[in-house]
Amino acid sequence: MFEIILQEFKKIYGTDLNIEPTKFFAPGRVNLIGEHTDHEGGNVFPCAINLGIYALANLRPGNSVRLCSLNFDENKTPFEINFSDIKLQDSIKWVNYPLGVINILQNLGHKFNSGIDILYYGNLPDGAGLSSSAAIEVLTARIFNELYNLNLDGVDLAKISQRAENEFVGMHCGIMDQFAVSMGKKNNAVLLNCSSLKYSYAPLNLDSCKIIITNSNVQHSLAGSEYNLRREQCENALKDLQTVKNIKCLCDLTPEEFENLSGSIKNPESFKRAKHVIYENARTLNATEKLKAGDLKAFGKLMDESHISLRDYYQVTIFELDTLAELAWKIPGVYGSRMTGGGFGGCTVSIVDKNIIDEFKNSVGENYKKSTGRSASFYIVDTSDGANKIL
Ligand code: GLA
Repeated sequence: MFEIILQEFKKIYGTDLNIEPTKFFAPGRVNLIGEHTDHEGGNVFPCAINLGIYALANLRPGNSVRLCSLNFDENKTPFEINFSDIKLQDSIKWVNYPLGVINILQNLGHKFNSGIDILYYGNLPDGAGLSSSAAIEVLTARIFNELYNLNLDGVDLAKISQRAENEFVGMHCGIMDQFAVSMGKKNNAVLLNCSSLKYSYAPLNLDSCKIIITNSNVQHSLAGSEYNLRREQCENALKDLQTVKNIKCLCDLTPEEFENLSGSIKNPESFKRAKHVIYENARTLNATEKLKAGDLKAFGKLMDESHISLRDYYQVTIFELDTLAELAWKIPGVYGSRMTGGGFGGCTVSIVDKNIIDEFKNSVGENYKKSTGRSASFYIVDTSDGANKIL
């Protein structure tokens, strides 16, 4: 992989490199359960996957950043900007993710005393909800950390990347994606409490199964505006609940407490959003216990319930994602299946017996085409470590 990127790097940034550029990789992520709980102080359970973004980076004399992507820049002309001039770009959208990270680093007082060249290449499908934006953010943060010796740890890099997305790009996401991309661990999922940022790893003993990600091939374009709207509705529910109980976030409540207090929520939509969030939070803790106990069946059932709640209460699933999940549920050997990520397009994640992978692909693929007229794509993924330098 890196050989091809290196050739391109030399063509784009000059062949007379004294120092070989440093190699980096940041994974994408798939969330197994705990959807739309991160922004409400709840628990999530994602893992980093072996699809992601590669980069080569080198320092050079000067005071500008040059950024180029083999995915987005067809004519391979790098985007160049001075460190003193970092601002949101209207014409080239993808650069806003790395620029956001640089901007936050600068706001935190970091100074860069030489220029930098970065070339990115990713194999994560775009707009599929597998965190390509978090991957490029955390990757950039990791590159800066290593090459400018910033001495930040993986949690810092996740927080900085989330701030880049919130404050620079304007998407009010929680911390799940950036955390999973930065702190993921091979063969494990991360149980993260998004309120305290306490986390632990849970081994994914999936010897007899595979994680299959199915792409609906509907790009989650509505995701930004609808996402922010759902967050507002959650905030409204929280305000109403705070009139009857002293809580900091929705996930401070158990489902039982919610049932007793939910009469205080005035708006019916806000009620539904809060109901999803609070039950999903409890479901996530329950699911991780089931997984630790080796009960994949129970884990999978909770995944299915998560999808139903996202469909009926949080209302982010769309017809194509419901179709994919329902088709998967019908197949013996599928432990569980649900939409993953923000919703409004993107992917489902399914835990599938190793022996029926072809059957799964054929059956879901054909019937999805019949119902929606669209072709699904399948990725059989492995888990991965978080973003890092590659030696
Ligand atoms: C997107 C956001 C995350 C999280 C998920 C939903 O991926 O970036 O912070 O809220 O949606 O769980």
